[in-house]
Amino acid sequence: MQVIHNKKELCNVLGPFWQKASHTIGLVPTMGYLHTGHLSLVERCNSENACTVLSIFVNPTQFGPDEDLETYPRDLERDLDMACDAGVDYVFAPQAPDIYLPGHSTWIEVVSPMTNVLCGASRPGHFRGVTTVVAKLIHLVQPQRAYFGEKDFQQLAVIRQMVRDINIPVEIVSCPIVREPDGLAMSSRNKHLDSSQREAASLLYQSLLLVQELVNQGQRDSDALRQRIIDHFSISPHCEVDYIEFANPQTLELQQGPLQSDAQLLLAVKVGPVRLIDNYRIILT
Ligand code: PAJ
Repeated sequence: MQVIHNKKELCNVLGPFWQKASHTIGLVPTMGYLHTGHLSLVERCNSENACTVLSIFVNPTQFGPDEDLETYPRDLERDLDMACDAGVDYVFAPQAPDIYLPGHSTWIEVVSPMTNVLCGASRPGHFRGVTTVVAKLIHLVQPQRAYFGEKDFQQLAVIRQMVRDINIPVEIVSCPIVREPDGLAMSSRNKHLDSSQREAASLLYQSLLLVQELVNQGQRDSDALRQRIIDHFSISPHCEVDYIEFANPQTLELQQGPLQSDAQLLLAVKVGPVRLIDNYRIILT
Protein backbone atom coordinates (compact mmCIF):
# COMPACT_ATOMS: atom_id res chain seq x y z
CA MET A 1 0.00 0.00 0.00
CA GLN A 2 1.24 3.48 -0.82
CA VAL A 3 0.32 6.69 1.00
CA ILE A 4 -0.11 9.79 -1.17
CA HIS A 5 -0.01 13.18 0.49
CA ASN A 6 -0.65 15.65 -2.31
CA LYS A 7 -2.20 16.15 -5.74
CA LYS A 8 1.08 16.01 -7.66
CA GLU A 9 2.00 12.62 -6.24
CA LEU A 10 -1.53 11.43 -6.97
CA CYS A 11 -1.18 12.29 -10.67
CA ASN A 12 2.16 10.51 -10.89
CA VAL A 13 0.85 7.36 -9.26
CA LEU A 14 -2.55 7.13 -10.97
CA GLY A 15 -1.38 8.26 -14.42
CA PRO A 16 -0.71 4.70 -15.66
CA PHE A 17 -4.18 3.61 -14.53
CA TRP A 18 -5.85 6.43 -16.45
CA GLN A 19 -4.20 5.24 -19.68
CA LYS A 20 -5.76 1.79 -19.65
CA ALA A 21 -9.52 1.26 -19.61
CA SER A 22 -9.12 -2.19 -18.03
CA HIS A 23 -7.21 -0.72 -15.05
CA THR A 24 -10.32 0.39 -13.22
CA ILE A 25 -10.02 2.63 -10.20
CA GLY A 26 -12.48 2.56 -7.31
CA LEU A 27 -12.61 5.48 -4.86
CA VAL A 28 -13.73 5.21 -1.22
CA PRO A 29 -13.95 8.73 0.25
CA THR A 30 -13.76 8.92 4.06
CA MET A 31 -12.90 11.29 6.87
CA GLY A 32 -10.82 8.60 8.56
CA TYR A 33 -10.94 7.07 12.02
CA LEU A 34 -11.83 3.92 10.13
CA HIS A 35 -14.21 1.24 11.32
CA THR A 36 -15.79 -1.89 9.87
CA GLY A 37 -18.41 0.21 8.05
CA HIS A 38 -15.69 1.95 6.05
CA LEU A 39 -13.94 -1.36 5.46
CA SER A 40 -17.11 -2.88 3.99
CA LEU A 41 -16.91 -0.20 1.29
CA VAL A 42 -13.24 -1.07 0.70
CA GLU A 43 -14.10 -4.76 0.40
CA ARG A 44 -16.79 -4.07 -2.20
CA CYS A 45 -14.44 -1.70 -4.05
CA ASN A 46 -11.62 -4.28 -4.09
CA SER A 47 -13.96 -6.87 -5.57
CA GLU A 48 -15.01 -4.60 -8.46
CA ASN A 49 -11.86 -2.68 -9.45
CA ALA A 50 -8.23 -3.21 -10.35
CA CYS A 51 -7.18 -0.65 -7.77
CA THR A 52 -8.73 0.87 -4.63
CA VAL A 53 -8.00 4.46 -3.60
CA LEU A 54 -9.14 5.34 -0.07
CA SER A 55 -9.18 9.04 0.72
CA ILE A 56 -8.84 10.27 4.28
CA PHE A 57 -9.66 13.94 4.63
CA VAL A 58 -11.58 15.67 7.41
CA ASN A 59 -13.29 18.15 5.14
CA PRO A 60 -13.58 21.50 6.94
CA THR A 61 -16.25 22.93 4.64
CA GLN A 62 -18.90 20.41 5.65
CA PHE A 63 -18.71 21.39 9.34
CA GLY A 64 -20.76 24.31 10.66
CA PRO A 65 -19.11 26.94 12.89
CA ASP A 66 -20.50 25.31 16.07
CA GLU A 67 -19.81 21.75 14.99
CA ASP A 68 -17.09 19.25 15.89
CA LEU A 69 -14.36 19.89 13.29
CA GLU A 70 -11.68 20.31 15.98
CA THR A 71 -12.69 17.27 17.99
CA TYR A 72 -13.52 14.96 15.06
CA PRO A 73 -11.62 11.71 15.81
CA ARG A 74 -8.31 11.39 13.96
CA ASP A 75 -5.62 8.68 14.02
CA LEU A 76 -3.78 8.37 10.71
CA GLU A 77 -1.34 5.67 11.86
CA ARG A 78 -4.17 3.41 12.98
CA ASP A 79 -6.10 4.13 9.76
CA LEU A 80 -3.10 3.22 7.61
CA ASP A 81 -2.71 -0.13 9.38
CA MET A 82 -6.39 -0.90 8.91
CA ALA A 83 -6.39 0.21 5.27
CA CYS A 84 -3.31 -1.91 4.54
CA ASP A 85 -4.88 -4.99 6.16
CA ALA A 86 -8.06 -4.40 4.16
CA GLY A 87 -6.17 -4.47 0.86
CA VAL A 88 -6.29 -0.78 -0.07
CA ASP A 89 -3.79 0.04 -2.83
CA TYR A 90 -3.45 3.80 -2.29
CA VAL A 91 -4.40 6.07 0.59
CA PHE A 92 -4.83 9.68 -0.45
CA ALA A 93 -4.43 11.82 2.69
CA PRO A 94 -4.11 15.45 1.60
CA GLN A 95 -3.87 18.55 3.78
CA ALA A 96 -6.66 21.13 3.63
CA PRO A 97 -4.64 23.80 1.71
CA ASP A 98 -3.99 21.27 -1.07
CA ILE A 99 -7.72 20.72 -1.54
CA TYR A 100 -8.81 24.31 -0.87
CA LEU A 101 -6.20 26.58 -2.45
CA PRO A 102 -5.93 30.14 -1.13
CA GLY A 103 -8.78 32.14 -2.63
CA HIS A 104 -10.88 29.04 -3.26
CA SER A 105 -14.27 30.31 -4.36
CA THR A 106 -16.05 27.62 -6.39
CA TRP A 107 -18.78 25.50 -4.82
CA ILE A 108 -20.77 22.56 -6.07
CA GLU A 109 -24.22 22.73 -4.55
CA VAL A 110 -27.35 20.70 -5.18
CA VAL A 111 -30.08 23.33 -4.94
CA SER A 112 -33.19 21.29 -4.29
CA PRO A 113 -35.72 20.57 -1.55
CA MET A 114 -33.60 17.43 -1.06
CA THR A 115 -30.84 19.49 0.57
CA ASN A 116 -33.18 21.67 2.67
CA VAL A 117 -34.77 18.89 4.71
CA LEU A 118 -33.46 16.49 7.39
CA CYS A 119 -29.70 17.08 7.95
CA GLY A 120 -29.85 19.92 5.41
CA ALA A 121 -32.23 21.80 7.70
CA SER A 122 -30.24 21.07 10.88
CA ARG A 123 -26.81 21.66 9.32
CA PRO A 124 -26.95 24.61 6.89
CA GLY A 125 -24.16 24.45 4.31
CA HIS A 126 -23.24 20.86 5.21
CA PHE A 127 -24.20 19.29 1.90
CA ARG A 128 -22.59 22.07 -0.09
CA GLY A 129 -19.32 21.14 1.65
CA VAL A 130 -19.88 17.44 0.99
CA THR A 131 -20.70 17.80 -2.71
CA THR A 132 -17.83 20.21 -3.26
CA VAL A 133 -15.23 17.92 -1.72
CA VAL A 134 -16.64 14.76 -3.32
CA ALA A 135 -16.60 16.43 -6.75
CA LYS A 136 -12.97 17.49 -6.14
CA LEU A 137 -11.93 14.00 -5.03
CA ILE A 138 -13.62 12.41 -8.04
CA HIS A 139 -11.92 14.88 -10.38
CA LEU A 140 -8.54 14.24 -8.79
CA VAL A 141 -8.75 10.44 -8.70
CA GLN A 142 -10.84 9.93 -11.87
CA PRO A 143 -12.32 6.64 -10.68
CA GLN A 144 -14.76 4.51 -12.67
CA ARG A 145 -16.68 3.88 -9.43
CA ALA A 146 -17.08 5.63 -6.07
CA TYR A 147 -18.45 3.92 -2.96
CA PHE A 148 -20.75 5.39 -0.32
CA GLY A 149 -22.63 3.97 2.66
CA GLU A 150 -26.40 3.97 3.13
CA LYS A 151 -25.76 5.03 6.72
CA ASP A 152 -25.61 8.58 5.30
CA PHE A 153 -28.74 8.07 3.25
CA GLN A 154 -29.33 11.73 2.42
CA GLN A 155 -25.66 12.27 1.54
CA LEU A 156 -25.88 9.37 -0.92
CA ALA A 157 -29.03 10.78 -2.55
CA VAL A 158 -27.47 14.26 -2.83
CA ILE A 159 -24.26 12.87 -4.35
CA ARG A 160 -26.24 10.85 -6.90
CA GLN A 161 -28.13 14.03 -7.82
CA MET A 162 -24.88 16.00 -8.25
CA VAL A 163 -23.27 13.31 -10.42
CA ARG A 164 -26.37 13.17 -12.64
CA ASP A 165 -26.76 16.95 -12.87
CA ILE A 166 -23.20 17.79 -13.87
CA ASN A 167 -22.51 14.60 -15.86
CA ILE A 168 -19.62 13.28 -13.83
CA PRO A 169 -18.58 10.03 -15.53
CA VAL A 170 -18.55 7.85 -12.43
CA GLU A 171 -20.75 5.07 -11.11
CA ILE A 172 -21.98 5.69 -7.56
CA VAL A 173 -22.17 2.41 -5.66
CA SER A 174 -24.15 2.25 -2.42
CA CYS A 175 -23.32 -0.17 0.38
CA PRO A 176 -25.53 -1.36 3.28
CA ILE A 177 -25.21 -0.06 6.84
CA VAL A 178 -22.81 -2.01 9.06
CA ARG A 179 -23.99 -2.20 12.68
CA GLU A 180 -22.60 -3.09 16.09
CA PRO A 181 -24.05 -6.25 17.68
CA ASP A 182 -26.73 -4.18 19.50
CA GLY A 183 -27.76 -2.48 16.23
CA LEU A 184 -25.98 0.87 16.59
CA ALA A 185 -24.76 1.98 13.16
CA MET A 186 -20.98 2.14 13.17
CA SER A 187 -19.66 5.70 13.11
CA SER A 188 -16.34 7.39 13.87
CA ARG A 189 -18.20 9.70 16.27
CA ASN A 190 -19.36 6.75 18.45
CA LYS A 191 -15.92 6.99 20.07
CA HIS A 192 -17.11 10.10 21.94
CA LEU A 193 -19.95 8.24 23.73
CA ASP A 194 -19.38 7.29 27.36
CA SER A 195 -20.77 3.95 28.55
CA SER A 196 -24.26 5.15 29.53
CA GLN A 197 -24.57 7.22 26.34
CA ARG A 198 -23.37 4.25 24.33
CA GLU A 199 -26.13 2.14 25.89
CA ALA A 200 -28.72 4.83 25.10
CA ALA A 201 -27.46 5.01 21.50
CA SER A 202 -28.89 1.55 20.82
CA LEU A 203 -32.37 3.14 21.10
CA LEU A 204 -31.96 4.51 17.57
CA TYR A 205 -31.98 1.15 15.83
CA GLN A 206 -34.52 -0.26 18.30
CA SER A 207 -36.90 2.57 17.42
CA LEU A 208 -36.53 1.90 13.69
CA LEU A 209 -37.38 -1.77 14.23
CA LEU A 210 -40.28 -0.79 16.49
CA VAL A 211 -41.81 1.27 13.69
CA GLN A 212 -41.54 -1.62 11.23
CA GLU A 213 -43.20 -3.85 13.84
CA LEU A 214 -46.07 -1.38 14.33
CA VAL A 215 -46.49 -1.08 10.56
CA ASN A 216 -46.62 -4.88 10.34
CA GLN A 217 -49.44 -4.72 12.90
CA GLY A 218 -51.36 -2.35 10.64
CA GLN A 219 -50.41 1.13 11.90
CA ARG A 220 -50.09 3.56 8.96
CA ASP A 221 -50.38 6.97 10.65
CA SER A 222 -46.97 8.63 10.39
CA ASP A 223 -47.74 11.06 13.23
CA ALA A 224 -48.66 8.23 15.57
CA LEU A 225 -45.52 6.33 14.55
CA ARG A 226 -43.38 9.42 15.12
CA GLN A 227 -44.93 9.87 18.57
CA ARG A 228 -44.07 6.26 19.47
CA ILE A 229 -40.43 7.00 18.68
CA ILE A 230 -40.46 10.16 20.77
CA ASP A 231 -41.94 8.15 23.67
CA HIS A 232 -39.27 5.51 23.11
CA PHE A 233 -36.49 8.08 23.49
CA SER A 234 -38.10 9.82 26.45
CA ILE A 235 -36.98 6.95 28.72
CA SER A 236 -33.38 8.12 28.34
CA PRO A 237 -32.01 11.35 29.83
CA HIS A 238 -29.18 11.25 27.25
CA CYS A 239 -31.26 11.53 24.07
CA GLU A 240 -32.55 14.65 22.37
CA VAL A 241 -34.42 13.99 19.12
CA ASP A 242 -33.53 16.33 16.24
CA TYR A 243 -35.79 14.88 13.55
CA ILE A 244 -37.85 11.80 12.75
CA GLU A 245 -39.14 11.76 9.17
CA PHE A 246 -40.59 9.41 6.61
CA ALA A 247 -39.36 10.21 3.11
CA ASN A 248 -39.59 9.04 -0.45
CA PRO A 249 -36.44 6.88 -0.79
CA GLN A 250 -35.43 8.43 -4.14
CA THR A 251 -36.43 12.10 -3.90
CA LEU A 252 -36.39 12.41 -0.08
CA GLU A 253 -39.73 14.23 -0.30
CA LEU A 254 -41.12 14.10 3.22
CA GLN A 255 -44.28 12.05 3.71
CA GLN A 256 -47.03 13.30 6.01
CA GLY A 257 -50.26 11.62 7.07
CA PRO A 258 -50.92 7.95 6.42
CA LEU A 259 -48.08 6.01 4.79
CA GLN A 260 -49.15 5.11 1.24
CA SER A 261 -46.08 3.21 0.10
CA ASP A 262 -42.71 1.96 1.32
CA ALA A 263 -40.81 4.85 2.89
CA GLN A 264 -37.36 5.61 4.25
CA LEU A 265 -37.53 6.40 7.96
CA LEU A 266 -34.67 8.75 8.87
CA LEU A 267 -33.75 10.06 12.26
CA ALA A 268 -31.16 12.24 13.94
CA VAL A 269 -30.75 12.17 17.70
CA LYS A 270 -28.26 13.91 19.92
CA VAL A 271 -26.92 11.40 22.44
CA GLY A 272 -24.81 13.25 24.99
CA PRO A 273 -22.33 15.29 22.92
CA VAL A 274 -22.77 13.27 19.73
CA ARG A 275 -25.31 13.75 16.96
CA LEU A 276 -26.19 10.33 15.57
CA ILE A 277 -28.14 9.50 12.42
CA ASP A 278 -29.73 6.29 11.24
CA ASN A 279 -32.34 5.15 8.72
CA TYR A 280 -34.40 2.15 7.70
CA ARG A 281 -36.60 1.17 4.76
CA ILE A 282 -40.12 0.71 6.11
CA ILE A 283 -41.93 -1.90 4.05
CA LEU A 284 -45.74 -1.77 3.99
CA THR A 285 -46.89 -5.33 4.42
P1 PAJ B 1 -17.29 9.30 6.77
O1 PAJ B 1 -18.29 9.62 7.84
O2 PAJ B 1 -15.89 8.97 7.17
O3 PAJ B 1 -17.88 8.10 5.93
C1 PAJ B 1 -17.22 7.64 4.78
C2 PAJ B 1 -18.13 6.68 4.06
O4 PAJ B 1 -18.37 5.54 4.89
C3 PAJ B 1 -19.52 7.30 3.73
O5 PAJ B 1 -19.93 6.90 2.44
C4 PAJ B 1 -20.39 6.69 4.81
O6 PAJ B 1 -21.76 6.60 4.45
C5 PAJ B 1 -19.76 5.31 4.98
N1 PAJ B 1 -20.11 4.75 6.27
C6 PAJ B 1 -19.91 5.31 7.49
N2 PAJ B 1 -20.40 4.51 8.45
C7 PAJ B 1 -20.92 3.42 7.86
C8 PAJ B 1 -21.58 2.24 8.31
N3 PAJ B 1 -21.81 2.02 9.58
N4 PAJ B 1 -21.97 1.33 7.39
C9 PAJ B 1 -21.74 1.56 6.05
N5 PAJ B 1 -21.14 2.65 5.56
C10 PAJ B 1 -20.72 3.57 6.45
O7 PAJ B 1 -19.32 10.48 4.92
C11 PAJ B 1 -18.23 11.05 5.03
O8 PAJ B 1 -17.18 10.52 5.73
C12 PAJ B 1 -17.94 12.38 4.36
O9 PAJ B 1 -19.11 13.15 4.30
C13 PAJ B 1 -17.33 12.23 2.94
C14 PAJ B 1 -18.29 11.54 1.97
C15 PAJ B 1 -16.00 11.48 2.99
C16 PAJ B 1 -17.05 13.65 2.36
O10 PAJ B 1 -16.19 14.35 3.18
